[in-house]
Amino acid sequence: MILTGAGQIGMAIARRMGYGMKIIVGDRRMENAMLVANTMNQAGFDAMPVEMDLATRSSILALIEKAQTVGDIKYLVNAAGVSPSQASIETILKVDLYGTAVLLEEVGKVIKPEGAGITISSQSGHRLPALGEKTNRLLACTPTEKLLDLDVLQPQNIRDTLHAYQLAKRCNTKRVMAEAVKWGKRGARINSISPGIIVTPLALDEFNGPRGDFYKNMFAKCPAGRPGTADEVANVAELLMSSRGAFITGADFLVDGGATATYFYDD
Ligand SMILES: NC(=O)c1ccc[n+]([C@@H]2O[C@H](COP(=O)([O-])OP(=O)(O)OC[C@H]3O[C@@H](n4cnc5c(N)ncnc54)[C@H](O)[C@@H]3O)[C@@H](O)[C@H]2O)c1
Repeated sequence: MILTGAGQIGMAIARRMGYGMKIIVGDRRMENAMLVANTMNQAGFDAMPVEMDLATRSSILALIEKAQTVGDIKYLVNAAGVSPSQASIETILKVDLYGTAVLLEEVGKVIKPEGAGITISSQSGHRLPALGEKTNRLLACTPTEKLLDLDVLQPQNIRDTLHAYQLAKRCNTKRVMAEAVKWGKRGARINSISPGIIVTPLALDEFNGPRGDFYKNMFAKCPAGRPGTADEVANVAELLMSSRGAFITGADFLVDGGATATYFYDD
């Protein structure tokens, strides 16, 4: 298994699906990768920490190569990312949009038959108005090295870091659809999950950031009335990655306690 993003969501999913196999834990912050690998190894898993940067193709390729020295790649869990309060527009686009696209592309070239992948998108991507068929296709299919040249992703067309994040997460779901066709030719599946507010260090940065009150209000008002946990995201990931999800690929699953429903339809 390749796990990118040694955070709470990534670890929760890896613990459901990574038993009995080597888990390569990649993170830009080696201390995070080591902490998660250590926690998992003390719980009976076989995890190896690796420093990597999702923003660069060479780093992604090196991670895949490292994983292949151990064996075939059966599972991908991509839970690396930066949030609107953590990074600049440029970094959000490089990591969350471009890096995710490259990772799905490169793992899709080598994934084992009957393998499966999950990438973590966000409810944020569901708040953006429809972008139209032409833009959807461009986000889904533009060759990865040209993605950041698209008009819709140019600085004059992006209001702020939240808008950049929403575009990145919308793009994730479109790439997953296009990649599902390619992964399918290898007998493998790829899906995305769009979580709502899940308590993790990333979400805590949002609570303490400029949009803190907005986020706290969001979960207080949603049908669930609370933020979610990484384990609740892992419940869905387990279904999607296991053989019980064999008929599900190229799909996105909103796991947000109903926050998106409230956003659109709470009159
Ligand atoms: N927590 C939430 O409320 C929430 C909601 C929706 C979506 N998400 C998404 O879930 C994913 C996981 O986030 P989390 O909440 O578990 O956060 P987290 O902070 O627990 O973990 C994220 C990890 O990604 C790593 N990372 C950041 N940039 C990287 C890079 N360039 N290369 C490699 N690793 C990098 C961080 O070092 C960190 O360890 C992210 O994509 C995030 O956008 C989170």
